[in-house]
Amino acid sequence: MSTPLLEVRDVGKRFGSVIALQEVSTVVNAGEVTCVLGDNGAGKSTLIKILAGAHQHDEGEFLLDGVATKLASPREALDRGIATVFQDLSVVPLMSVWRNFFLGSEPTTGWGPLRRLDRRAARETTRKALADMGIDLRDVEQPVGTLSGGERQCVAIARAVHFGAKVLILDEPTAALGVKQAGVVLKYVAQARDRGLGVVLITHNPHHAYPVADRFLLLKRGRSLGCFDKPDITLAELTRQMAGGAELEALEHELRGAVS
Ligand SMILES: Nc1ncnc2c1ncn2[C@@H]1O[C@H](COP(=O)(O)OP(=O)(O)O)[C@@H](O)[C@H]1O
Ligand SMILES: [Mg+2]
Repeated sequence: MSTPLLEVRDVGKRFGSVIALQEVSTVVNAGEVTCVLGDNGAGKSTLIKILAGAHQHDEGEFLLDGVATKLASPREALDRGIATVFQDLSVVPLMSVWRNFFLGSEPTTGWGPLRRLDRRAARETTRKALADMGIDLRDVEQPVGTLSGGERQCVAIARAVHFGAKVLILDEPTAALGVKQAGVVLKYVAQARDRGLGVVLITHNPHHAYPVADRFLLLKRGRSLGCFDKPDITLAELTRQMAGGAELEALEHELRGAVS
């Protein structure tokens, strides 16, 4: 087995007296999807912010290509090949699709004072990168604000693939989407995986996680309920764990009693 792209070992993070994350361990391998599941307040965002350089852990270890690391900023994470698509997507809605695609990494022609943005090349590159992933947009000139939520996620995934990310982190990419759109986004998640990226997919929907993931990290109130390889856990068991396991069964029993 080769070295994981990312690994956390017993990682922990507190905010003052609040323990947001405690003793959490998992790995992210090239060409695999690690799924982080948990209810609100479980610590999912805190974990990915550590991986994305937005927070620094204060316990345990974070290894990048096998070397213990603390990332100082999201910029450093990106420079080291970790691309994160946050829930708000960080896009500029009034700017065109191709402008957003190149935001912060515009191709230029000319030199010195003659240096300018090569609009034609940028437009063409965006169109091609999207087409390569099978994303068919009517017009890369249209404002990003006119795209559906699912289309925006797809553009963000294609962008990370195009600019050579090694790790792609997606925070709840399917949360606000309908069934069909969620399916389309998951298809591109699978494509990024098949192109060799290590993907971290955050969700609270086991039905979205199960078909694409190779590994499931279950979080609850900042603690790990375990990290399972796919062969070691069924969808039914995953759903049960997510629903609170025994707690849900007790609730079901109680509710049945209440209506009968
Ligand atoms: N910046 C912060 N300051 C204080 N507490 C925080 C901060 N960020 C997260 N927390 C706390 O850490 C816990 C985990 O939060 P979070 O990682 O956002 O969970 P999730 O993304 O799974 O909903 C929560 O109790 C939350 O209130
Ligand atoms: Mg969150």
